[in-house]
Amino acid sequence: MKILIVGAGGFIGGHLLEEILKNHRNWHVIAIDINADKISHLLADENINFFKIDILQDSIEKHVRDCDVVLPLAAIASPAVYVTDPLRVFELDFEANLQIIKWAVKYEKRVIFPSTSEVYGMCEDEEFREDESNCVTGPVCKQRWIYSCSKQMLDRVIYAHGLKNNLNYTLFRPFNWIGPKLDDISNSDNGSSRVVTQFLSNIVHEKDIKLVGGGNQIRSFTDVSDAIGALIKIIKNENNCATRQIFNIGNPNNQASIKNLAHEILDLAKKYDRLKSLAEKIKIVEINPHEYYGKGYQDVAYRVPSIERAEALLQWKPKVPLKESLQKIMDSLFKTTSK
Ligand SMILES: NC(=O)c1ccc[n+]([C@@H]2O[C@H](COP(=O)([O-])OP(=O)(O)OC[C@H]3O[C@@H](n4cnc5c(N)ncnc54)[C@H](O)[C@@H]3O)[C@@H](O)[C@H]2O)c1
Repeated sequence: MKILIVGAGGFIGGHLLEEILKNHRNWHVIAIDINADKISHLLADENINFFKIDILQDSIEKHVRDCDVVLPLAAIASPAVYVTDPLRVFELDFEANLQIIKWAVKYEKRVIFPSTSEVYGMCEDEEFREDESNCVTGPVCKQRWIYSCSKQMLDRVIYAHGLKNNLNYTLFRPFNWIGPKLDDISNSDNGSSRVVTQFLSNIVHEKDIKLVGGGNQIRSFTDVSDAIGALIKIIKNENNCATRQIFNIGNPNNQASIKNLAHEILDLAKKYDRLKSLAEKIKIVEINPHEYYGKGYQDVAYRVPSIERAEALLQWKPKVPLKESLQKIMDSLFKTTSK
């Protein structure tokens, strides 16, 4: 199988590449990204061809034509950018990805597309279900919803191509996948990275941890090793189990409020020699969402997936508890000497 991964140098792409090159030696990967820093150690492998291409500038039509399955993972997935530069989010997350979908339709290729838990928005269901829960977003002046809407619109376009043109697709919805190499820890500006990296970089840079709106928001954190296990099953697609399906890929057992997450990370940090003295000085403080992200922000109080479908069709179940996941991330960054 020839797999085209666009955005292969990112968090998910990098972990997926590692797994494919280690355990699926009969698969060949065409990897595309503007940045290969996180995957440079993999590029000498004969099972991968890397192309440094900016998909906003250059066509990748021939790569779509030449593969069997395409995973268009390139996107901006950072709430701070949804608010400060919504058009950039639209151009990459929607327009550039739409073009890839059109080529996949033209050349009859299989598409595995990363939707997002964000499409459920402010849905009040206790557990979000792929075919039942509503997608609830806020007013246009809350531009943070441009990410959710861009992804939702692509979900709908892909679904429609499935109906009309028989497009062979799978949509997967990650719920806060976390693991080593999530984001760059060197930048500690407000909202510069996803929450786990943000809190760690606050500690490293001796800045207080800020709980946006009090930190009572609930999220379900999913260890990237579990998540990649689901993705591999989707790629394999045994007996067409993933064909024209939407899957929530999350860990409902790893629910935590952002406030609890902050305390968990700070407590863990005290066990690492490099962080101990820093962590003892850090305070956890509350901050108004508009002060932190700007007026275009609106929050999601609660986000827990139903994973019944992934359990039934993919025979997949996440295993790694949140604490273990956090430890793995911190070990990868700070090489613990005492636990
Ligand atoms: N990580 C999560 O928990 C999560 C949650 C929901 C949805 N997703 C979706 O999964 C996908 C992958 O997420 P991720 O966490 O790996 O993101 P990431 O930001 O780590 O990776 C995205 C990659 O795309 C590349 N890229 C950006 N602009 C590009 C361009 N113009 N041309 C070529 N490459 C470009 C980046 O260099 C980066 O390596 C995204 O579509 C994201 O929206 C992820």
